Amino acid sequence: MAFKVTPWEVSGDVDYDKLIKQFGTERIDDALLRRIQKHSGRLHHFLRRRLFFSHRDMNWLIDQHEKGREWALYTGRGPSGHTHLGHLIPWMFTKWLSDTFNVPLYFQLTDDEKFLFKETLSLEEANGFAHENALDMIALGFSPKRLKILIDTEHAGLMYPEAIRVAKKITYSTTKAVFGFTNDTNIGQIFYTSMQAVPAMIPSILAGKKVPVLIPHAIDQDPHFRVARDVLPKIGYEKPASIHCRFLPALYEGGKMSASVSHTAIYTTDTAKQVRDKVNKYAFSGGRATVEEHRKKGGDPDIDVSFQYLTYFEEDDKRLQSIRDDYESGKMLSGELKAILIEKLNRFLVKHQEKREKARTRLDKYLLKA
Ligand code: TYM
Repeated sequence: MAFKVTPWEVSGDVDYDKLIKQFGTERIDDALLRRIQKHSGRLHHFLRRRLFFSHRDMNWLIDQHEKGREWALYTGRGPSGHTHLGHLIPWMFTKWLSDTFNVPLYFQLTDDEKFLFKETLSLEEANGFAHENALDMIALGFSPKRLKILIDTEHAGLMYPEAIRVAKKITYSTTKAVFGFTNDTNIGQIFYTSMQAVPAMIPSILAGKKVPVLIPHAIDQDPHFRVARDVLPKIGYEKPASIHCRFLPALYEGGKMSASVSHTAIYTTDTAKQVRDKVNKYAFSGGRATVEEHRKKGGDPDIDVSFQYLTYFEEDDKRLQSIRDDYESGKMLSGELKAILIEKLNRFLVKHQEKREKARTRLDKYLLKA
């Protein structure tokens, strides 16, 4: 089945092997996992389960780490609405990397991007969501020393001079080829990728020396960093490394959980009841049509969205395996599997929501001052 992955649209049944070839990235293999494990101890379950599956230049980054060089993490969010569980996947992994390797994170909120790309979103709304989304990152437990937040329209003084250095090296024909722009595209969109390159330069600018950067993200953002990796060495910076995750699927239908289809996404601001109702009503089930048939033939965890979500949110490998076994054998029904997921998500979200409310008055401490 055909699928499409661009920074603005993901649809169909994504074939991640094909995507590695199409985008020209590298698969995360056992040798790389062993190298990471040498430094991290036990691997994060996103790595153990290959939910992060692809990368650019991770071996180079580990070389730099082994040489004792300081490095930094960079990730981001296009604030078009509230944060959903899909966005949290690269962010939770980034938090683990920051803790494990003792490195800071630069977090970009691209209110300019979402204003330019979303027909009906005002700049004020996008900026408001930037402030809301920032709370979710802070709620993951970062200290202000480790997390530096950049909001494009508010950090323009720092970012714009760097963005035009990048922009000068990118031709219209490159952006057309990479992003599929046409004559109808507004010129802000054409310029935008220069802004997404800048936080990969900021750690070096602030330190006054070259600082390697690793960018964790879902694979849809890779086109931006393909361009950035091409340009940065031309203007005196190292190519950023990157590490890519699969998409947390939408509750039903193919593709990724997407903020623009609200009933197929679970937001960090959803109430326990909303989570329960959405999972019960919409989560695509790999169960059988009748209880009798299910008991006899068992369910299919590999197409069951609730089970897929548990591969992200249930860290305990043994527990996950026992759920898989029970579901496959028919001992566990779809409704029971959904109940496990609902409990897991709501337990996480109650705590997360408390922390994100506390973050509201502390946001200022996290905004990059430069
Ligand atoms: P945005 O806001 O679309 O997405 C934010 C981050 O979440 C990832 N993502 C997902 N990951 C797993 N499952 C999903 N269903 C899912 N949906 C989205 C995205 O890949 C991204 O990592 N232009 C960017 C903002 C940005 C950025 C960055 C992202 C600026 N600088 C650096 C990553 C790294 C955007 O609109 O992301």
